[in-house]
Amino acid sequence: MRISQVNVEGYAALAPMAGAADMAFRELCVSFGAAYTVNEMASAKGIVAGDSKTLALLRVSDAQKPCAVQIFGGSPQIMARAAVICGEFAPDVIDINMGCPAPKISGNSAGAALMKNPDLAEAVVRACAQATALPVTVKMRSGWDAQNINAVQLACRFEQAGAAALTIHARTREQMYAGKADYSVIAAVKKAVSIPVIGSGDVCSAQNAADMFERTGCDMVMVGRAALGRPWLFAQINAYLEHGQILPEPAVHERMRVMLGHVGRIIAYKGEYIGIREARKHAAWYIKSIRSAAALRREAGRIESFAQLEALAAKVVEIAEKHAQ
Ligand SMILES: Cc1cc2nc3c(=O)[nH]c(=O)nc-3n(C[C@H](O)[C@H](O)[C@H](O)COP(=O)(O)O)c2cc1C
Repeated sequence: MRISQVNVEGYAALAPMAGAADMAFRELCVSFGAAYTVNEMASAKGIVAGDSKTLALLRVSDAQKPCAVQIFGGSPQIMARAAVICGEFAPDVIDINMGCPAPKISGNSAGAALMKNPDLAEAVVRACAQATALPVTVKMRSGWDAQNINAVQLACRFEQAGAAALTIHARTREQMYAGKADYSVIAAVKKAVSIPVIGSGDVCSAQNAADMFERTGCDMVMVGRAALGRPWLFAQINAYLEHGQILPEPAVHERMRVMLGHVGRIIAYKGEYIGIREARKHAAWYIKSIRSAAALRREAGRIESFAQLEALAAKVVEIAEKHAQ
């Protein structure tokens, strides 16, 4: 797939996930075969104001490439200025968020709320595309609610306005993250435009990924929640789509090894105090898929140091081995 001049080789992208898909996780997923990553969404207003926490969200590393940074906002002028600043962080692509359902964002005409205002949404895309030489893409939902499924109409307008690719999370804003993604909307968008279309929603196994490709004709699938605590899912998807090979879930000791490596990376970027607090939820996700580990998952929520996490990982392995006997 080519996003304008950017070559993106592979099957599955890592979804942008605020508070979860930070640089450590993006790099880890690429090491398992993710073909493309998108940074956590950053406020255009915060970028333009020079807010240091917001600007930190734009940092990209070579190990997460090819990649996009993602911005949100409801003002074409501010979004365009933010897009220019994004360029200084050297991403490959700039993605516009039109999917965030959070009232804090959509209440300000940004995120998914832009889908309710097609003229403004198109103006945002055009302003960004004209402001930067980098490819500009849009990630949107199916529509605002079941009565307003307008992704196809918007997709055509965004293509005209200069968008270089589109990602469709096939749920409405009203659905938030519940209910099933409706792949027919992704298929309809793919038919309507000639730029690449990435499909997002409910890809949680290699077979699901194959199913989404088959049912939608999309150019790439995007994996969100299912990759949390399971970054090897990208290797499973690649093996299945390339060779029809079904890779099993890694052994528990291997999953714990990956978890410790992941948390080590978070700590390297954010220091142990912040890193270990952010690592708690990741640790719980890694442990979630392991039988009889509910109590250990709760323990993960209380870890205070890397040494405690190592001890917890050893306990998880011990319990899993006992169950296997
Ligand atoms: C914790 C979390 C944070 C998210 N943050 C973003 C975000 O910053 N930008 C965005 O476009 N989508 C965001 N999403 C939506 C995902 O990118 C994805 O489209 C959605 O979760 C559906 O895919 P899935 O079923 O594979 O999880 C987020 C989702 C989750 C669960």
